[in-house]
Amino acid sequence: MSTAEKRAVPEHVAIIMDGNGRWASARGLPRTFGHRKGVEAVRETVRAAAEAGIRYLTLFAFSSENWRRPEAEINDLFGLLKTFIRRDLAELHRENVRIRIIGDRTSLREDIRSLLLEAEETTRGNSSLTVVIAFNYGSRDEIARAAASLAADVAAGRLKASDINAQMIDERLDTADIPDPDLIIRTSGEERLSNFLLWQAAYAELMFVPDLWPDFNREVFFAALERFSARDRRFGGLSAKAVALGS
Ligand code: IPE
Ligand code: IPE
Ligand code: MG
Repeated sequence: MSTAEKRAVPEHVAIIMDGNGRWASARGLPRTFGHRKGVEAVRETVRAAAEAGIRYLTLFAFSSENWRRPEAEINDLFGLLKTFIRRDLAELHRENVRIRIIGDRTSLREDIRSLLLEAEETTRGNSSLTVVIAFNYGSRDEIARAAASLAADVAAGRLKASDINAQMIDERLDTADIPDPDLIIRTSGEERLSNFLLWQAAYAELMFVPDLWPDFNREVFFAALERFSARDRRFGGLSAKAVALGS
C-alpha cells in the first residue's frame, strides 16, 4: 500500500490565509504585494487539494471585520478577487472544479455580486473539488442571519420555537450543504479563529503553521495533511485504540 492510500485524507479542509501583509513588510514592500503573491499561493493550493483527493477546500479571503482596514487595501482585495475569478474561472471550470461562495453578499457592490454568481452558476454541475470562497464572511454574522430566518418562520407560524434544533440552524447557515471542516489550517503563526466557521468547527482539527500565506505551497500543505492523518479524532466517544484495549 502506498503512503497516499494509507493516509486518512480529510474530506474538507478550511484555510485561514493569513500573513500577506507581514510577508510584504519583511521585504520592504507595500502590503498589496503580499496580497498579490497570496493569489499565487491560492492557485497552488487548489491544485494540491485536487491532487490529494480533498473534496472541499474553503478559503477565508475577506472577513466581515476586514472592513476595518484602510479603504485602499479593501479596494485592492476586492480587485484581486475580481481578477482571480475573471482569469481563473475558465480553467477551474475545465478542471471540473465547483465554486461556492459563503458570506454576506447583500452589502457587496453589484459588479462583485454578479461575478460571484457567475462563478457559482458556471461551475454548478462540476464534480471534482469544491472550492468554497469565504468572502465578506463572519461566523457570528452567519449565525445571526440563520437565527433571523428561523425567527421569521416562528413569527409567521410556520415553525414552533420549541422545535428548533441544531440541525435546523445548520440548514440555514451559508454552508448548509457543505460538510463540516475536518481540518482548519491557519498560516502566519497566529493561533485564533478570527470569526471563521465557529459553528462548523465544533470537531475540526486545528493546525497552526508558521509559514506566511504567500509562502504556503504544496509541500507545506502535504506536511499538514500528513500530521492530520496522525490525529486521533474521537467526537466525544472513545479512540479506536481504547476500545480495542477494552479500557
Ligand atoms: C491575510 O493577510 C489576508 C487577509 C486578511 C485579507 P493579512 O492582510 O491579514 O496579513 P497580516 O496578517 O497583516 O500579515
Ligand atoms: C483573518 O485574518 C481573515 C482572513 C484571513 C480573511 P485577519 O488578519 O483579518 O485576522 P486578525 O485580525 O489577525 O484576527
Ligand atoms: Mg492578518
